[in-house]
Amino acid sequence: MPPIVELIRVSKVYQANGNAVHALREIDLALEKGTFTVIVGRSGCGKSTLLNLAGAVDLPTSGEVRIEQQSTQSLRDAELSRLRRTRIGFVFQFFNLMPTLTVEENVELPLLLDGIKTSGKTRERIAELLGMVGLEKKGRSFPHQLSGGEMQRVAIARALVHEPSIVIADEPTGNLDSANAETVLRLLQHISETSHTVLMATHSREAAEFASHIFSMRDGQLSVS
Ligand SMILES: Nc1ncnc2c1ncn2[C@@H]1O[C@H](COP(=O)(O)OP(=O)(O)O)[C@@H](O)[C@H]1O
Ligand SMILES: [Mg+2]
Repeated sequence: MPPIVELIRVSKVYQANGNAVHALREIDLALEKGTFTVIVGRSGCGKSTLLNLAGAVDLPTSGEVRIEQQSTQSLRDAELSRLRRTRIGFVFQFFNLMPTLTVEENVELPLLLDGIKTSGKTRERIAELLGMVGLEKKGRSFPHQLSGGEMQRVAIARALVHEPSIVIADEPTGNLDSANAETVLRLLQHISETSHTVLMATHSREAAEFASHIFSMRDGQLSVS
């Protein structure tokens, strides 16, 4: 089977105040279905840049990014945003929940944004996901009533609601204590075992140990860890 995500000699150069920043240098990476890959490295080494390219948030300066065999450079903006909305789930360091929406509503949001109306079936899906992340009793709560670990579990449920094939998590444990971090990492592990492809960035070696494939990043280059 071809990889779910493939980076082929990918470079990314940002222009900042007339200076070129080489964030990624000729990266080759293939993510197979059902794997949990971690990119570990210090702040500024290029992790978020790599995740943004793998998640079709941004395009490479050179080289090719293929998501489910589609080259992201070949897609128009509308097609790229559709790819992001339907095939990819994102989890962020600061959770990015909507404060005025309940937990259930936050999890439902990607469906609504994709034009899928609330139904018995969508409610069932949301309940099932909240059960999976251990928050079946918190559906009617608001984000400010939750702990950081609980908020991140809501974000994970939200990332999965539209049944993406790829889950991208950028420093998902960066704001959590070690017990909550472990819960989130075990959930990501579980998600990869249910045939999603998980790609995570972290600066923590300890967090990286939960992955099936670990790469170190330094100055925009990857090495097997
Ligand atoms: N939009 C941007 N414009 C200019 N430089 C950027 C931009 N985004 C990131 N960079 C630079 O690219 C490098 C890699 O950044 P990033 O991918 O965010 O690293 P990490 O996630 O590992 O901290 C850093 O030097 C950063 O300052
Ligand atoms: Mg980053």
